[in-house]
Amino acid sequence: MTKKIIMKIAGTGHYLPEKIMTNQDFEKILDTSDEWITKMVGIKERRIVGDADQSTSDLATFAALAAIKDAGITAEDIDAIILATVSPDMAFPSTAIFVQKNIGAVNAAVFDVSAACTGWIYSMTIAEGFIALGKFKNILVIGAEFLTSLADMTDRSTAVLFGDGAGAVVVQPADGESGIMGSYIKSNGELAELLWSYGGGSRVNKRVTDQEIMVDANGMDKRSKIRMEGNKVYKYAVRAMIESAEKVMEDAGITEKDIDLLIPHQANMRIIDAIAERLEMPDEKVVRNIQYLGNSSAATIPIAIDQSRKSGKIKKGDIVLVAAFGGGFTWGGLVIKF
Ligand code: ACO
Repeated sequence: MTKKIIMKIAGTGHYLPEKIMTNQDFEKILDTSDEWITKMVGIKERRIVGDADQSTSDLATFAALAAIKDAGITAEDIDAIILATVSPDMAFPSTAIFVQKNIGAVNAAVFDVSAACTGWIYSMTIAEGFIALGKFKNILVIGAEFLTSLADMTDRSTAVLFGDGAGAVVVQPADGESGIMGSYIKSNGELAELLWSYGGGSRVNKRVTDQEIMVDANGMDKRSKIRMEGNKVYKYAVRAMIESAEKVMEDAGITEKDIDLLIPHQANMRIIDAIAERLEMPDEKVVRNIQYLGNSSAATIPIAIDQSRKSGKIKKGDIVLVAAFGGGFTWGGLVIKF
């Protein structure tokens, strides 16, 4: 039996900062090479905020305005803003608050979601719940990251991985066959210490005298920098992506053959290849933009959705499977009919 579709995507948008940082730029500041980064991760360049006077909420604002325009509504029509990020403007208030202010969404209730790279999928699932309850009609669901603000530029094993950007969608109650056909989200707190940032969290704030946590040998404050056990993350990531795809296909009542396009989280080209292989997806059915954008955590999937819609890669009626994993560990997927 086909599940009832509750929520549809009515508009999409994205924003990328202008500055490009190439692998050659990294060769100048770190003991790394274009060859290593390309072979191990598949990234050639990434967009970064750099010196621009922007923060996560600014990137999110541009993406939100584009999605609102695309949906043919106004900011005043927005009932809620759900913003997924691990690089918020500040500890509180939420980054969504600044987006609300910037766009003038005066009728909205707004909040952030912290689920790392799976954050946008978590946020879409929350939005679906609101729509199912009849609580809201127009919800902005945003994934936005200024991830390079958390990157330790002295650590070659993480610095080269990240990029900045934002993607947004407007979701509404479904009125036909298009919308969310299936969803799946999952977490495992046992893996919390594989990928983390202390940030301004209470665990660090109450230990302000602990120099080991806060300051490195050169005296640099590193509390907020991303730390990762890359090897272990890689192993779990491949499993999590495959589980997400299998579970979400089951939830949607579809098989691999029904998928027109696969949009995996853009963390590592080899992880993308592994899930594409598992789903037996030919290259033309897999969206890859990591070469140009790097990993912008919660933003990679909504950015890729907007790019794919605007370039004609997603056509009306297409069934798209998205899947992600991230710090936490968190993982999950959506099946979306356009
Ligand atoms: N350039 C050159 N050499 C490097 C670099 C670099 N940028 N980074 C690491 N190396 C070296 C290491 O120092 C090490 O050298 P050694 O053997 O002399 O000690 C060697 O390469 C192997 O290092 P590993 O860390 O074991 O390499 P690995 O095979 O694990 O690949 C990578 C590293 C590509 C980062 C991989 O672990 C990976 O992709 N992991 C998943 C990352 C990911 O998906 N993160 C997403 C989460 S982001 C988020 O949630 C916010």
